[in-house]
Amino acid sequence: MKWTKNHLYRHLDTVDEKELAALEDKVNNCSWRQAYHIQPNTGLLNDPNGFSFYNGEYHLFYQWFPLGPVHGLKYWYHVKSVDLVHWKNDGVAIKADTPYDSHGAFSGSGIIHNDKLYLFYTGNTRDEEWVRHPYQCIAYMDKKGSIIKLEKPVISKVPFGYTDHFRDPKVWRENNMFYAVIGIQRMNQTGTVVLYCSPDLLNWSFLGEIKTELQDFGYMWECPDYFTLGNNGVLLFSPQGLSADGDRFQNIYQAGYCLGKPLDLETREFKHGDFVELDHGFDFYAPQTTLDEKGRRLLIGWMGLPDLDYPTDSSGWAHCLTLTRELSIKNNKLVQQPVDELKLLRQMECSVQDIVQNERKTYGEFKGKTYELMAEFYDIHAEKFGIEFRVGPTEKTIIMYNRIEKKLILDRTLSGENTALSYGTIRKCLFEAEAIKLHLFVDVSSVEIFINDGQEVFTSRIFPQENSEGINFFAEAGSTKLKTTIWQI
Ligand code: FRU
Repeated sequence: MKWTKNHLYRHLDTVDEKELAALEDKVNNCSWRQAYHIQPNTGLLNDPNGFSFYNGEYHLFYQWFPLGPVHGLKYWYHVKSVDLVHWKNDGVAIKADTPYDSHGAFSGSGIIHNDKLYLFYTGNTRDEEWVRHPYQCIAYMDKKGSIIKLEKPVISKVPFGYTDHFRDPKVWRENNMFYAVIGIQRMNQTGTVVLYCSPDLLNWSFLGEIKTELQDFGYMWECPDYFTLGNNGVLLFSPQGLSADGDRFQNIYQAGYCLGKPLDLETREFKHGDFVELDHGFDFYAPQTTLDEKGRRLLIGWMGLPDLDYPTDSSGWAHCLTLTRELSIKNNKLVQQPVDELKLLRQMECSVQDIVQNERKTYGEFKGKTYELMAEFYDIHAEKFGIEFRVGPTEKTIIMYNRIEKKLILDRTLSGENTALSYGTIRKCLFEAEAIKLHLFVDVSSVEIFINDGQEVFTSRIFPQENSEGINFFAEAGSTKLKTTIWQI
């Protein structure tokens, strides 16, 4: 179908039940529906928004266009959970229904204030000439779950010197003040982040740019996030317009962070190290964090990217979110570990210890479409070793380590139906360690791989056939010891 403006900006409440039911049918017939990831009932999901712990539950929202696998009129869709594992759908939270968000309730964040969950988002609007006018808006949710929008935006103007690409407020509280970082594009078409502050969440003052060392680093920075972790300041953002550089920046757009000294809120000085990609897989963008009541810094990302087609499009839906990860810092790097609660998903367990030497090995219970798998390789003499999974007669996805190149390699060349082929089918990253631990979460059409307790992560959609369920362990040019456990999910 060709998506005209009329189709893209159609409101959900003008669509009759029959049409929706037909769309739902089409989606439910898709063999790539996920088993334990957050995914839309229909249509397209993108960024996680408003991630917070409020009133005894985790609340999460996502960007949603209900009517097809395209970026049309965006809603905030609400899901909630008590354990970060089992999420309940709670329907639309923010509609695009005022003059300040007429063309979409774009991304933003949540913060608790006066016993309410304040949702700070970008109202996207277009005038008759189709010129974009962004507003930064607030809606608040009470303990009963009803959501009320403030009548007027809290930031109505793009600051002087910047274009209309001004969106995705992330708000936090510090020293009895509220601060927000917002993604923005300078007049010279470079991306950056600006800082605002407010005593009450309602009246905001523009402070200026966060002073980073990245003055010419892509044309737009989307979905910024700032937090402190230990003694560090972390600025997270999703820059667009970077060119590939060796193994880095291979995807259409990037998502990563700079680690530094805590941001100086007076001078806006941020002394930081290099921009580091958060994830080395094919599908990861626009992550957002929150601090929970246990003091954990939690992160969820969009397991997808803008401006690409995906094999589920023809079934009327696209994308899902990642599992929740807990952040920490080791050796000056962010480490991401799947949250402990994910163990709740574990069902039948099976373990094996073996030596793998110049061969490919399979073990009886090691197969499936949805599972968690932990594999430790140690006492390694092989040049290459790793795991092939979702293996079928003509399909396999490979995660391996090459000891000569000292690289981790994810290969989805034969993973099934292809996607984003022009961006390649192999991802690599340098990694040095004596022993390698691969921790996989495989769902029907995705994999998240945590390496050596979250020092690196590879997140990817894959689209294999239903009967591609095999798992092989392999070693080339030598041997490795192997200890592995699978839990069916
Ligand atoms: C990132 C993004 C945000 C925007 C939202 C719109 O994927 O482009 O910058 O707010 O998606 O859905």
